[in-house]
Amino acid sequence: MTSKIPVSILGATGTVGQKFVRLLADHPWFEVAAVAASSASAGRAYGEAVRWREQTELPERIAGLTVQPCTPPLPGPIVFSALDADAAGPIEQAFARDGAFVVTNARNHRMDPDVPLLIPEANADHLVLIDGQRQHRGWKGAILANPNCSTAGLVLALAPLHQAFGIEKIFVSTMQAVSGAGYPGVPSLDIVGNVIPHVGGEEEKMEGESRKILGRLDPDGVTPADFLVSAHTNRVAVVDGHLETVSVGFRRRVSPDEAIATLRAFRASPCVADLPSSPTPPVEIDLRSDRPQPRLDLERGRGMAVTVGRIRPCPILDLRMVLLGHNTVRGAAGQAVQIAELLVADGRVGARP
Ligand SMILES: NC(=O)c1ccc[n+]([C@@H]2O[C@H](COP(=O)([O-])OP(=O)(O)OC[C@H]3O[C@@H](n4cnc5c(N)ncnc54)[C@H](OP(=O)(O)O)[C@@H]3O)[C@@H](O)[C@H]2O)c1
Repeated sequence: MTSKIPVSILGATGTVGQKFVRLLADHPWFEVAAVAASSASAGRAYGEAVRWREQTELPERIAGLTVQPCTPPLPGPIVFSALDADAAGPIEQAFARDGAFVVTNARNHRMDPDVPLLIPEANADHLVLIDGQRQHRGWKGAILANPNCSTAGLVLALAPLHQAFGIEKIFVSTMQAVSGAGYPGVPSLDIVGNVIPHVGGEEEKMEGESRKILGRLDPDGVTPADFLVSAHTNRVAVVDGHLETVSVGFRRRVSPDEAIATLRAFRASPCVADLPSSPTPPVEIDLRSDRPQPRLDLERGRGMAVTVGRIRPCPILDLRMVLLGHNTVRGAAGQAVQIAELLVADGRVGARP
């Protein structure tokens, strides 16, 4: 072991769990000390239990770790959760009660009033919610949540516009990759050559979560932003990357040039911008007429940037645009790692090496 901060991964065998393993393999501050999953995997070597789908080699040291059951304690102050939502609730609570900072990708606790739902570039100030959470619940640790993968890209792109102009209405239609459904996910006979115009629960999540993230932090918690959101979600035959077409209405008229200048100038606060996982810039603008595209633009900012294009007037609302976010990096493991980095930079966990 090195002087890095040990961390554990719950649900390490799944799609998001594997992305955690890959992103943490050579992380400057963190080192994977334990991997955990269901009773079907526990007790086996990780390299045997996992059906490794990442395009890099599984690191030998991690392949040799024995998969643990998802019961506390596991090593380290930070536990990343990539658990199926059916199992996540009580398991994550048990770890937080036991003293771990649980950074979760599951939906179970996202809308709890005392759980911060974070996109560090947009609302790092919501982190303080964990103080009340620990106090009220009597926990030594805390739960911090990552938004749903479609919400993460949408809100990162719209946060600068909301700050500058005030959003009143959002109309969004998604084209979501199959990896968003985990592994093995959507049967190939359902999705190849097809579009499925329904992603269970996703529209409600986008509508509620975006308002919480861009809400105002008050002494009693977060007052949700008061804009309206209408979301249509679709599953398409793309492996990774959620593309979203968006129309936005503002409190005043906003021209495409104003929006482009605002998005180009957007930078995270210095504390967030300096985190190892933070991309610079967080929002990339590509004004070529046929961009962004999942196959060509997904890895911008190592999967942590959102790419926005086709910014033009909308005859119904004010502006329309297309955006692309990486569902398992910005929308899941990558941003969860960034949130854990924020905990360290904020002095709440250990010391960075
Ligand atoms: N995929 C995405 O793009 C994405 C994006 C954002 C958020 N999320 C959320 O992230 C979480 C993980 O998603 P995923 O796509 O990685 O799912 P997945 O591929 O189905 O993986 C699920 C993981 O949970 C474990 N698990 C299942 N039941 C369990 C139980 N009863 N006890 C302990 N472990 C259990 C599985 O272990 P075994 O292998 O041992 O069964 C596996 O490691 C979900 O809550 C999902 O909604 C996913």
